[in-house]
Amino acid sequence: MKISVIGAGNVGATCALVLANKDAASEVVLLDIKEGIAEGKALDIWQSAPIDRFNCKTTGVTNDYEATAGSGVVVITSGLPRKPGMSRDDLIETNADIVKTVTEQVIKYSPDASIIVVSNPLDVMTYQAYLSANLPRTKVMGMAGVLDTGRYRAFIADELNVSPKDIQAVLMGGHGDTMVPLPRFTTVSGIPITELMDQDKLDAIIERTKFGGGELVKLMGTSAWYAPGSAAARMAEAISRNQKRVLPCCVKLEGEYGLKDVFVGVPVVLGRNGVEQIINLNLNQDEMLLLQQSANAVREMMDVLDKKRK
Ligand code: LAC
Repeated sequence: MKISVIGAGNVGATCALVLANKDAASEVVLLDIKEGIAEGKALDIWQSAPIDRFNCKTTGVTNDYEATAGSGVVVITSGLPRKPGMSRDDLIETNADIVKTVTEQVIKYSPDASIIVVSNPLDVMTYQAYLSANLPRTKVMGMAGVLDTGRYRAFIADELNVSPKDIQAVLMGGHGDTMVPLPRFTTVSGIPITELMDQDKLDAIIERTKFGGGELVKLMGTSAWYAPGSAAARMAEAISRNQKRVLPCCVKLEGEYGLKDVFVGVPVVLGRNGVEQIINLNLNQDEMLLLQQSANAVREMMDVLDKKRK
């Protein structure tokens, strides 16, 4: 399967590199609007193929969507990143226009693609891509939960001094400060986290996770890219290899969790057809409340987008 990555900034280039390293696609096309950037980064990645031993042909183009034709998955990373002091929501106006234009071009050449949105504010940009793509909800999803659980699991691994490979977790809601990590569904090789960690420590980790993106913006002056790029690649690989991976992704809910017409993160199964199942867990009252609050925060931002469209 051919995978295209739109936007050859830090996140897009990392995503392309990870996909190529895993041989997760037959071909990766990187596209950017800045002359030469995608060509250069793709060529640089391709020159690592003999060193890291992969076959996946990686090419780059400047704004030529024809080169993306026939992609099975398209990852959209286009848009401005956050600067210190900005929330993801501050990017809504600029990035909505970008995501709209990009999605229309993508769909023109790859009408059957699954679209993975990475641009911020994530949940609202997934909504924008869904509107512009005019595809079923199973084909348009946002990357956030894989990244946010990555952060959550890395912090837990540090605290317990165990391998991050052995931490499993579910995290739901929007990609923002209202995200909902779920300790009841967090285990260390099957051992409930509550058996291994005090509530205070866990609460501190949950707080750090919620602001995990901001922590990096503060350190680097711009938003993160290694874990976000890897997370998007993980989702794209699950689709291209039809892996049926269970991953938290942002999708349009149509009644699941008692929520309707809102884009939030929930656990789904990713395979060749995109979102092949939405897993509808039985949340307790407290968890449900947090998810509703998160969905309300996303809905407010979706309203901002709706007003802009009128
Ligand atoms: C972050 C950005 C990519 O969470 O949203 O780092």
